[in-house]
Amino acid sequence: MSGEATFDRAAFAGALRTRRLGHVLVARGEVDSTNELAWTMAQEGADDGACVVADVQTRGRGRQGRSWHTAPGRGLALSLLLHPGCDRAALATAPLVAGLGLARALEALGLEARLKWPNDLVVRGRKLSGVLVESRRGADGADVVVMGVGVNVAERAEDFPAELRESATSLALEGVTASREQVAAGFLNALEPLWDEHQEGDPGRTLAAWRGRAAFWGMPVTVSTPAGPVSGVARDLDPRGGLVIEPEGGAAITVYAGDLRVSWPEGVA
Ligand code: BTN
Repeated sequence: MSGEATFDRAAFAGALRTRRLGHVLVARGEVDSTNELAWTMAQEGADDGACVVADVQTRGRGRQGRSWHTAPGRGLALSLLLHPGCDRAALATAPLVAGLGLARALEALGLEARLKWPNDLVVRGRKLSGVLVESRRGADGADVVVMGVGVNVAERAEDFPAELRESATSLALEGVTASREQVAAGFLNALEPLWDEHQEGDPGRTLAAWRGRAAFWGMPVTVSTPAGPVSGVARDLDPRGGLVIEPEGGAAITVYAGDLRVSWPEGVA
């Protein structure tokens, strides 16, 4: 799958309803990472909303230095280049905006996925998609963002590496028939109004909508942060997108990075 891209540009364009996101589309058969290619495009002066997709990634990047597996032609690997107009501080909630956009896009395809902080989408406790938002400063000093999303679209169980088989799922495995092109266009369609609102600087509505799509409030959780594990009951999001955790008998702690593990009660996932 390293030659011509199999991503159907016409099908994507036919489903796209945005004013600018995705109007420039680079589709490749194989790349190391679509985020990396998007950064190269940024250096070459690509515009806000330019988008990269690839059938397969050889070095797909995940959060916390992990790798991301894209099953050739079955998983969606998409990166979006954004030139934000908001304050740098507001970029802290950009990953939540991406997760919410993806959740809305999948809902439009008939799948009710839940958000898991900071931006995974899970169904029946299994991971359906992940988001990696990176930001850097451009040559002119302005912030540039690359929003990368990986969605498991048409994978069968055998398409996942053995170590992910128990913890991952795909739209197909959840009974939803959709193409990568539909998911890509649907994501950009859902994201554009959310991103525009985010640029205006008030994260309130995004955070409220995000909270409503997460199912772990009031549950015992542990977040593995760079400074060590933090355990307690998940209470809220703070205005910067951090997760507020109430340890037993202690004052609330807000964490801004890490991996969340939820202790679901028996029978709930
Ligand atoms: C995670 O859950 O750890 C985040 C995974 C993000 C993967 C996507 S796939 C498209 C884009 N390119 C990358 O190299 N990573 C992101």
